[in-house]
Amino acid sequence: MAQDDPQPLVTFERVCKSFGRRAEESVLVDVDLDVGRGELVAIIGPSGCGKSTVLNLVAGLTDVTSGSVRVADPEVRSAYVFQNPRLLPWRDVQANVEFSLEQIGLSRKDIRDRADEALDLVHLGQHKDKYPHELSGGMQQRAALARGLALDPGLLLLDEPFGALDALTRGYLQEELLGIVRRFQTTTLLVTHDIDEALLLADRLAVMSSRPARIRQIFELPFGPDRALDKVVAHPEFLPLRTEIRELLRPEVEATDPGSASTDASQATAAGTRRGSRARAGTAQ
Ligand SMILES: Nc1ncnc2c1ncn2[C@@H]1O[C@H](COP(=O)(O)OP(=O)(O)OP(=O)(O)O)[C@@H](O)[C@H]1O
Ligand SMILES: [Mg+2]
Repeated sequence: MAQDDPQPLVTFERVCKSFGRRAEESVLVDVDLDVGRGELVAIIGPSGCGKSTVLNLVAGLTDVTSGSVRVADPEVRSAYVFQNPRLLPWRDVQANVEFSLEQIGLSRKDIRDRADEALDLVHLGQHKDKYPHELSGGMQQRAALARGLALDPGLLLLDEPFGALDALTRGYLQEELLGIVRRFQTTTLLVTHDIDEALLLADRLAVMSSRPARIRQIFELPFGPDRALDKVVAHPEFLPLRTEIRELLRPEVEATDPGSASTDASQATAAGTRRGSRARAGTAQ
């Protein structure tokens, strides 16, 4: 895939999504977002605002109510690592990873080799004979991640892939993932609840409002392509950005809490683009 192709791989244009006919059933309102080729865009927002719905729209698992979601290259192979690992309980870990590879017509040997490689990447090589019920939640998530990576996808959709991991494993796998998507220039859309994770992994970060969700702000992150955890946290813009994003999310999170009626999420401002922690006039992405 041409990384210098200026056309984004994924484009959302004024996307509205509602699961019912009434206005209060709206989930997404006027979402404009693009993901460039080889870029990692993270989405962060309060619980239930519509983050998984964004990924489902890209994957074609649900349709827009209005607006459009386009994937520019119809041939691109995508992999979707769901929020819930969704492993097949009757298959062991190896066979779960091989399942997705069996659908793309590889030889038996290639299937085995690619599954082994992906399992090693997520450090599950020692557990490949186990069945899902024998795995911890974090191991199940790692198996689901291996299943996605084994496909060698051009477009990777990740829905909180590290949510059930302990902090140590999470940090380790975040760096592994960063290495993998950098090495293969994999276009990635990552949903996360974790500001630090977003700051480490993303080239750009879209902050969503509470439901009905709009994109409140898009941050272009200043940490560079060769970022690593230690360098990112030591960067002078890391703490100011983290504080700014937390403050941006605070009223949105409060708005999803029935105990707090202080914020009307529908007043959320339209999307803008910022670089670093300093605001700059820019067009919405
Ligand atoms: N198939 C569906 N039918 C009806 N409502 C749905 C459907 N899928 C999602 N919703 C509703 O849309 C809203 C957004 O759901 P979604 O799963 O996208 O949120 P989320 O931001 O991923 O939440 P979380 O942070 O808890 O993972 C929720 O109110 C949810 O109940
Ligand atoms: Mg979700």
